[in-house]
Amino acid sequence: MQLPLQIKSFDHYQEVYQQSVDNPESFWAEQARTFDWHQPWDKVLEWDFEGPNVKWFPGGKLNITENCLDRHLEERGDQTAILFEPNEPGDPAISLTYRQLLDEVSKTGNALRELGIGKGDRVCFYMPMVPELAISILACARIGAIHSVVFAGFSAQALADRVNDAECKMIICSDYNKRGAKTIPVKEVVDEAMGLGCPSIETVLVHRNTGGDIGWDPSYDKWYHEATEGQSTDCTPEVMDAEDVLFILYTSGSTGKPKGVVHTCGGYMLYTAFSFLNVFQYQPGDVYWCTADIGWITGHSYILYGPLLVGATTMMFEGVPTYPDAGRFWEVCEKHKVNQFYTAPTAIRALMARGDEFVEGYDLSSLKVIGSVGEPINQEAWEWYKEKIGKDTVPIVDTWWQTETGGMMISGLGGHSPQKPTFAGYPLPGIQPCLVDKENIQEVEGNPASGLLCVKFPWPSMLRTIWGDHQRCKNTYFSTVPGMYFTGDGARRDENGMYRIVGRVDDVINVSGHRMGTAEVENAIDEHPEVVETAVVGYPHDIKGQGIYAYVIMGPGDHNGDEVRKEIIDIVRKEIGPIAKPDKIQFVSALPKTRSGKIMRRILRKVAAGEADQLGDTSTLLNPEAVDDIIRGKR
Ligand code: PRX
Repeated sequence: MQLPLQIKSFDHYQEVYQQSVDNPESFWAEQARTFDWHQPWDKVLEWDFEGPNVKWFPGGKLNITENCLDRHLEERGDQTAILFEPNEPGDPAISLTYRQLLDEVSKTGNALRELGIGKGDRVCFYMPMVPELAISILACARIGAIHSVVFAGFSAQALADRVNDAECKMIICSDYNKRGAKTIPVKEVVDEAMGLGCPSIETVLVHRNTGGDIGWDPSYDKWYHEATEGQSTDCTPEVMDAEDVLFILYTSGSTGKPKGVVHTCGGYMLYTAFSFLNVFQYQPGDVYWCTADIGWITGHSYILYGPLLVGATTMMFEGVPTYPDAGRFWEVCEKHKVNQFYTAPTAIRALMARGDEFVEGYDLSSLKVIGSVGEPINQEAWEWYKEKIGKDTVPIVDTWWQTETGGMMISGLGGHSPQKPTFAGYPLPGIQPCLVDKENIQEVEGNPASGLLCVKFPWPSMLRTIWGDHQRCKNTYFSTVPGMYFTGDGARRDENGMYRIVGRVDDVINVSGHRMGTAEVENAIDEHPEVVETAVVGYPHDIKGQGIYAYVIMGPGDHNGDEVRKEIIDIVRKEIGPIAKPDKIQFVSALPKTRSGKIMRRILRKVAAGEADQLGDTSTLLNPEAVDDIIRGKR
């Protein structure tokens, strides 16, 4: 079986990078030919960033699951594809070989077809990290259905919003979810979402995970095990165009409701496989573990698709890093002799804070590459990760990317790239990032430099549109800097051209690696009947990276602060989910505004960060007195 190119040294990287920029089409066509296609493409690339209109390999026909599963049977049918490590350390791990995984995916694919799901239909997932989640996502891809996975920590309202936006026909969920010492009633949230109104849903397919009582509506509830029982292990793959939609994944922006980022089959397949092989320097037989949840893009691209496409053994972990204690990650690394380990800075910081005794004593000598993703990694966490986990010898890859980019964009390549703490490093082959001056919207050339992080040329796994709202895709990503993809991040380049991501420059915050729109949280808080106005900002938080700070103006009358705080938190949990609940709520009588009535968030961010001495000139505000007021009342 052929695999995409794997870079072998930094010199090799530089050579390949240059080729990929000089001749992107021939570069990517050569990589794409290593996969199985039913029919070759008519054209490698068609694009303009004004539309935007981006098509990779249009006319090419394929099914991504044949590339993830069928084509591995000959060489590694009996090798573990998915290694499942359950929540309870005493429970046995479950191993699914490539052959078994294909059988299970086929059975589920046939079951979904029998339930009326076909090409182009949307299927929503609201499920914990269990093998059936991976199986049914791949089953959707097998039959050409579009999966839309919703992280199982979102609220019923958030789930219903996403189901309705994509007009999903089916929800696949579990009865309960085990996470650490907690059992979470998953199906109950789905029932609540159905109660809120999800008119497009015909079936709720329920996987029995823990067993236990659940609500049941016979008009649409069906058991997963009954639907899949007796199904054939042959499931004809739907032949898809490279540009047919593979999945939708919702993510937060600076305004409005979360948007459904759309990824398509061919380019996403190529880029997730290529980037996985190169960043992690995966070798046959290695055991790879990404600790993300499949509810986020990291799980889609680097638990499922990327690793399976290259025939890797990929681990799926049901639990949490601190159960039964803060040594769990390292215990699991030792137990399964993990070779590549990929996690988020928030987890590293949380474990670092628990003390080194939870790491000591575990044999981590199998590790060859350790990775970080989701938010900027601070120097202290980087050093700890390198020293305590990597024993000062294992390379760290700090991978910068986004839901919209589909795959890793700026990162070291295993041990082949220079490393510098807090710097993601150099772009992957085929990726052409640049920095743009905020004021004059011109590219900043030379090094060192800083500016808005943009990308000048299309790459195979980039988003194609926002589900149902192409104009929003254009406005959000392709209008700020005409002719370029704008990431929403600020970055700088050092004298050697290495990139450091500084963080978001829009009203998006990153809480424990979870991306959140401040507007979303504000809208939720505004649902409180006595709240008049709200402004939400992020502030530096030792463990979470950023915490959520809400400034709230209440209507007239007496309010019991503690009671209202609790009510506000309850509303946010209900509207979005516990991950969005404010860490601090400060009641204020006014918000600082410009003369045109815009909230001065810069000032609110400074005050929340405890940097009120760096506010600069506030005299041009409409109400400068509001600033003194909020400084006095700071929590
Ligand atoms: O701000 C950047 C930050 O996370 C954002 C993307 O979030 P999301 O779409 O949820 O995807 C997260 C997982 C890929 C980016 O705009 N971010 C992600 N990785 C890094 C990062 N910031 C700094 N360094 C990173 N390695």
